[in-house]
Amino acid sequence: MEKNPLKHPLVKELLEETERGLRKYLDPTVETVLTVGNYIVDGGGKRLRPLLLLLLAKGFGIENKALRERIVPLAVGIEYIHTASLLHDDVVDEADTRRGKKAAHKIFGNGVAVLTGDYMYANALYLFSVYGNQKMIEVVSRAVKWMAEGQVLELKKVGELIDEETYFQIVDGKTSALFAAATAVGALSADYENWKALWDFGLKIGRAFQLIDDALDYDGDQKKVGKPLGQDLKEGKTTYPLLSVLEKIDLSKVKKALTSTNGEGIEEVVNLVKELGGVEKTKERARLELSEARDILEKTPLEGEIKKILLQLVDFIVERTY
Ligand code: FPP
Ligand code: MG
Repeated sequence: MEKNPLKHPLVKELLEETERGLRKYLDPTVETVLTVGNYIVDGGGKRLRPLLLLLLAKGFGIENKALRERIVPLAVGIEYIHTASLLHDDVVDEADTRRGKKAAHKIFGNGVAVLTGDYMYANALYLFSVYGNQKMIEVVSRAVKWMAEGQVLELKKVGELIDEETYFQIVDGKTSALFAAATAVGALSADYENWKALWDFGLKIGRAFQLIDDALDYDGDQKKVGKPLGQDLKEGKTTYPLLSVLEKIDLSKVKKALTSTNGEGIEEVVNLVKELGGVEKTKERARLELSEARDILEKTPLEGEIKKILLQLVDFIVERTY
């Protein structure tokens, strides 16, 4: 059996449905919104959030026809929220690259990028109001509130050394919240009573995903990751690889790197973090989150092929190189 869950025939089918939906429901009348929307959608991405949502909906009993007609739009909505947040994030972070291409705001300008993000977000809420229900809207809008809070907290802490508690407060907002909303909606779409357990499952997956994202920023393969490495430190962000080895590093060097405006001192700290095992420690922390995610899955009635794929996806999150 294929080890990479993304190559599983069922997963491929769900990913194709998602791709079709992403284009089908993007229907603005203003040409520029379509151009920018397509630009960010065409950039690709792993589509993990919609995939988790669809797998859970199917696993909890939604049949194929209903999945296509009622649940795919919700999965698309979740991915639209993700793309909206990336459009906004790249403006905030002044990032040059996203998904191996020029960041949208670098081509279309900040105003158009932010407003297209607004359009995508509004479109997501529209899809949830048409195809979802009140509870889903509550769960998703709460997640987006949390995302914005996480982003603001991160912004306020730029250039500062933060502690582990603040790091996870930021991560839970900016990343875990949307994963949790995706997995909760998957369970809610099939009226699974204990959907809150799936919310917790998503939170843990999201944490692990961001931990690996932060590890890849220290020692990934730039081509595969699709954005320059060492970016977090350059942007003045303290992330887990650095936090995990902080007591072994000269703090004055760290503070210099975090506040550097010309890149001075960054490479030295990146190398120190790697030498001191910060990347491995981060992967270990991600594995811990994922083993808790697995425990949650074990307590659900999910079984068979879907459960197997979900468990493989959990493994993929820590093994991924992009
Ligand atoms: C990327 O983080 C950013 C996010 C995961 C979330 C961004 C959230 C918002 C902008 C608030 C919500 C907004 C809307 C419209 C829904 P990163 O900068 O650590 O990762 P990167 O290296 O991929 O940029
Ligand atoms: Mg960013």
